[in-house]
Amino acid sequence: MVVTPWEVKGKVDYERLIREFGTQPLTPELLSRVESRTGKLHLQLERQIFFSHRDLDTVLDLYDKGVKFVLYTGRGPSGPVHIGHLVPWIFTLHIQQKFNTRLYFQLTDDEKYLIDDDATLKETSHWAYENALDLIALGFKPEDTFIIYDTEDIDLLYDITLQVAKRITYSTARSSFGFQDSTNIGWVFWPAIQAAPCFIHKKLTGENVPALIPAAIDQDPYWRVTRDIAPKIGYYKPAQIHCRFLPGLGAGGKMSASMPETSIFTMDQPDAVKKKIWNAYTGGRGTAAEQRKLGADPTVCSIFQYYFFLFEEDAARLAERERKCKVGEMLCGECKMDIAEKLNRFLQNHQERREKAKDVIEQYHIKRK
Ligand code: TYM
Repeated sequence: MVVTPWEVKGKVDYERLIREFGTQPLTPELLSRVESRTGKLHLQLERQIFFSHRDLDTVLDLYDKGVKFVLYTGRGPSGPVHIGHLVPWIFTLHIQQKFNTRLYFQLTDDEKYLIDDDATLKETSHWAYENALDLIALGFKPEDTFIIYDTEDIDLLYDITLQVAKRITYSTARSSFGFQDSTNIGWVFWPAIQAAPCFIHKKLTGENVPALIPAAIDQDPYWRVTRDIAPKIGYYKPAQIHCRFLPGLGAGGKMSASMPETSIFTMDQPDAVKKKIWNAYTGGRGTAAEQRKLGADPTVCSIFQYYFFLFEEDAARLAERERKCKVGEMLCGECKMDIAEKLNRFLQNHQERREKAKDVIEQYHIKRK
């Protein structure tokens, strides 16, 4: 298994990541503290899609004492958004609504330019705009959502970035990120820029409050180095809440834009979705007769995961689907047809809202506030 901010390979063992990254599991006790604030737990907490954290308990302690927090998350705009990216953003919206907090959202066109040999800044900046539309389409409101386009807004981040960069040694950066002699020096410096939005709220408002970062666990190395230096420059350590990866449609592995045939992008059209779903890896048997007799295995099925992560909120209906699959009452074709329909309905709504976002996108830009 490899899990870094730039690569996720193999079968991800989340328990092992908690141990190796040194994060904390989300305990039932902590979840009930969240529940007492939010009402019914969000599906992604109930199903342990968010499974790990750093300092969520500290953030809640401070909140109880009247110190609010801000949310921070982001996207590396290397291409179109896929539905895996939406998983932490949907959760972020929920936390924003329940706690009435500000969100800082970083679009790292600079990062994607530096790490991809073939990328141009023109392309990554274009994707930053396109990806912002996907964020807005989920329902974030301009009053409390601040989008940062790195290359355009670097003057807002630069002094904080320097404070951070000055305190991270090359040796720490190399061991945290696996830099090699051949790594370009832009990339070596870059993690300080992803750290900066953790602290920008104080610069903008004068309020020193912690940031809580919802993201998949691949981003964790950034926060490890940022947390070490935060107190030295007068800020709270940023807190994290980590989610699992929505798998791709192939056999294992996360949904990844670099594998378009096994990813569902937000702008995919209905026929493309049907085709990708039709070719998806499932836990089915070689023939329909065999499957009716022996049942199938939802634990290895990519399609079942889509119901689990996003498209079946009703626990009883999910359990019934699982049961029917296991005993061979429902075959893969039927399950695939259902998910293709649900996905296409979701995407159609998303695409409509995304189109409308073009009229208001400027209201979210941190520089226009
Ligand atoms: P990026 O563009 O790789 O990913 C954007 C967000 O999506 C999460 N993610 C996934 N979540 C569930 N299932 C998947 N298959 C999946 N693939 C990706 C990522 O964990 C991330 O939360 N460097 C960052 C951009 C960034 C950022 C941040 C991310 C800047 N500041 C703060 C999170 C928090 C990047 O390239 O993300």
